[in-house]
Amino acid sequence: MNEEQRRTLLDADRRFVWHPFTQMKDYATADHVLIERAQGPFVYGSDGQRYYDAVSSWWVNIHGHNHPRINEAIARQLESMEHVMFSGFTHQPAIELASRLVAITPEGLDKVFYSDNGSTAVEVALKMSFQYWRQVGKTDKTRFVFLDNGYHGDTIGAVSVGGVDLYHKLYKPLLFATFQAPSPYQYRWPGNADAFVEEAVGAVEELFAAHADEIAGMIVEPMIQAAGGMIIYPAEYLRRVRDLCDRYGVHLIADEVAVGFGRTGRMFGCNHADVSPDIMCLSKGLTAGYVPLSVTLCTQQIYDAFYDDYDTVKTFFHGHSFTANPIGCAVALESLNIFDQEDTMRTVARLSAQLSEELKQFAAYEHVGDIRHLGMVGALELVSDRASRRSFPFQERIGQRVYQEGLRQGVILRPLGDTIYFWLQYCLTPEQMHDLFLRTHRVFQTLQL
Ligand SMILES: Cc1ncc(COP(=O)(O)O)c(C=O)c1O
Repeated sequence: MNEEQRRTLLDADRRFVWHPFTQMKDYATADHVLIERAQGPFVYGSDGQRYYDAVSSWWVNIHGHNHPRINEAIARQLESMEHVMFSGFTHQPAIELASRLVAITPEGLDKVFYSDNGSTAVEVALKMSFQYWRQVGKTDKTRFVFLDNGYHGDTIGAVSVGGVDLYHKLYKPLLFATFQAPSPYQYRWPGNADAFVEEAVGAVEELFAAHADEIAGMIVEPMIQAAGGMIIYPAEYLRRVRDLCDRYGVHLIADEVAVGFGRTGRMFGCNHADVSPDIMCLSKGLTAGYVPLSVTLCTQQIYDAFYDDYDTVKTFFHGHSFTANPIGCAVALESLNIFDQEDTMRTVARLSAQLSEELKQFAAYEHVGDIRHLGMVGALELVSDRASRRSFPFQERIGQRVYQEGLRQGVILRPLGDTIYFWLQYCLTPEQMHDLFLRTHRVFQTLQL
């Protein structure tokens, strides 16, 4: 692309496009990065700059960009069918994918409901749980428990169970009533940090003890509260929440939209705690970051509460135009083939061990308050003062400064507030991972962190 084409496109972008999660005024004079192509762990700007995609393009990419096997799977699928509606009709890719997902997800998740992005997978989960309780005669069970710092998407139902004030607070007047439990966030736990799991579980139990008759389900991001700041918590918390849900008759909804498909070092976050949720949401890595697709899996018991004669009006009246898009299903199937045939989880284990070592080097920086790691995810929480754990003032936009310098150094480090994180692809070579971190060190040194 020549400079004139580049300029024309960027000017049109400024004129016509409204980007997500973006204060557009920031781009009144600055340009968005115009990406021309992507390959493996890299994306390439139109100015010739190469960037490590250290955030896997918003946590979706798994095996690398422009993967030959997945490209071929799409081409193959297009030879027969691009899309067909999914009510009254079905197709081989969707049937095969549902069977494969039931086989690899935790025991007891037997039915697969398709939709087309993470937020809709969550909407489906909430509506499914709510309707289940109505149809088994527990009509008071209408509310959901969610965690502070939890994030489940941007549609109104998902925002209702969202616990990140910056994104969610404004919309409060539009949202349904919920119960909020504390985030199992050890670094910023307000009580006894050594007993934070005990105390966090205790808070959930208090809620359940007082309100179980009104609570339909509790939604969690297993192992990592991602958008809330890459808050990694112990499997024990998840295990104990599962126990409480069993004891009090509450659905456990596992939102694995972000963490599913190996990101935590296990295929699913729930595997760490050896728990089966009642409902599980998957998207992002489901299609290895290629095309929008999502699923909500549930137990036979939930499914059975909807299964009746039509005139009992127990149908789940929910669906989307692009439900179970065949291209998406074919891509997801090929991604699972890659997992199997290339032993991807072994690669993940090896890369995860290296990531742990790379992250430790950041303890030397004065402004790194907390280092967190699980699987292919690492996070560095920046603080203005280590001893008091005081955050940087909001106006300083320290994360944004890291992001800008990261771009100059050829690494996409998209921060979450003051937390710089790494959400790495499984196609990285050890040398590439090391190079990515050398560049990140240069960012930290330049900004005197
Ligand atoms: C845990 C979790 N759930 C749901 C979503 C929403 O997914 P989508 O952006 O595809 O709507 C996200 C997105 O980041 C997520 O991290």
